[in-house]
Amino acid sequence: MTDRSEVRRRRLRADLETVRRRTVGLVDPLDDDDLTRQFDRIMSPVVWDVGHVGNFEELWLLRTVAGRPPHDPRLDVVYNPFENPRWCRGDLDILGPREAEDYLREVRGDAFAILDGADLTSDDPLLRDGYVFEMVAQHEAQHQETVLQALDLRTDLAPYPPARRRMVPDAPPVDDTERVLIPEGPFTLGTDDRRRAYDNERPAHTVHLPTFAIDRFPVTARRYAEFVAAGGYRRPDLWSDAGRSWLEETGHEAPQGWIPDVGGGWLVRRFGHVVPLDPAEPVQHVCFYEAEAFCRWAGGRLPTEAEWEKAARWDPRSGRSHRYPWGEVEPTPRHANLNHVGWGPAPVGSFPAGASPTGVEQMVGDVYEWTSSFFRPYPGYATFPYPEYSEVFFGDEYRVLRGASWATTDLVARATFRNWDYPIRRQIFAGFRVVWEPT
Ligand code: AVJ
Ligand code: FE
Repeated sequence: MTDRSEVRRRRLRADLETVRRRTVGLVDPLDDDDLTRQFDRIMSPVVWDVGHVGNFEELWLLRTVAGRPPHDPRLDVVYNPFENPRWCRGDLDILGPREAEDYLREVRGDAFAILDGADLTSDDPLLRDGYVFEMVAQHEAQHQETVLQALDLRTDLAPYPPARRRMVPDAPPVDDTERVLIPEGPFTLGTDDRRRAYDNERPAHTVHLPTFAIDRFPVTARRYAEFVAAGGYRRPDLWSDAGRSWLEETGHEAPQGWIPDVGGGWLVRRFGHVVPLDPAEPVQHVCFYEAEAFCRWAGGRLPTEAEWEKAARWDPRSGRSHRYPWGEVEPTPRHANLNHVGWGPAPVGSFPAGASPTGVEQMVGDVYEWTSSFFRPYPGYATFPYPEYSEVFFGDEYRVLRGASWATTDLVARATFRNWDYPIRRQIFAGFRVVWEPT
């Protein structure tokens, strides 16, 4: 074994440990009812996500990599997300909180032994550089975000610890309407990375875009509240046909969690805490249709995912596209609001060190951002290692979200990451920014 692969092995072990510590930290303060009850048909009971994390790790590391027999074949059935859509997961015969904890611990013990013996220099792309271990760690991180969504959707949750605290000291005020001009020309979209990137982020390819302008910051609660106050939710002309149907069916009049304050202004409910809404924060918990209507009202439009990515990672001096907006180094707390430590988005202007080469800020961290793009494969896309991650979701049912939210961990956050969801969904930690015709 080379030194390089020993360094990598230690890193993978540390990443798996960190992500597990966070899972335990999220679940620990919850009681059995919080864990086992399904509170909304669009989200799983929290304990389903926990068991599914263990089952995914068992399937990939113990069974696929090491060829072990199943722990209990019934678990493969109940934790299969395709056989059991979210709305029915409350009635499944799944592991209870204590059983799930034991299952995860047993699987993890075996997984570490398998990691210790794995040939990370293998020609098999699943093992090479530990891709499959990285994939398992990212999967757990993504389900932590799902758990946080389920908790934040609840209006009856007792104030969820730890008490919300600010990630960063109050940022100096900035002009939240500033725009950045992104000049026309080719850039590299996507990546050839085989260590961390998902199949849908590959391959890297050149895309030519005309000049456009984009908001320097995600749309703030202040800007969004102006749209609400201007009657945006009562003006059918601002909404697409599908958006109008959504509006009529749901009757929503503001983003998820917003509560009108007595003297005007807004409060926001987050994880059972009701607090004044900070107007400088990026708006969060809006669906695609709300984002689209805001853009029409403001006189702009949503970015395509190519525009978003060019603004996020293209360096006009070198012509290269970076892994992160700020370059190649992994995120630190100076760069981005990640790792669910801030319990919400941070005010715009909080992360000047995380700016892209063209000066666009908070592209990674705070909120995922809706784009106008459907979730489709890049030219030359190849499914790896399984079609149920990306391939089965390609098509016009889903819109792409880019960036990363405050609830996303640093294993998942990168400028090439592609998220997707139904345009009606707003339990995800999503906002958006506006693209403008250049002036
Ligand atoms: C990439 C967030 C859309 O949650 O459906 C979790 C991630 N895939 N388990 C999802 C995922 C398999 C996925 N998203
Ligand atoms: Fe999953």
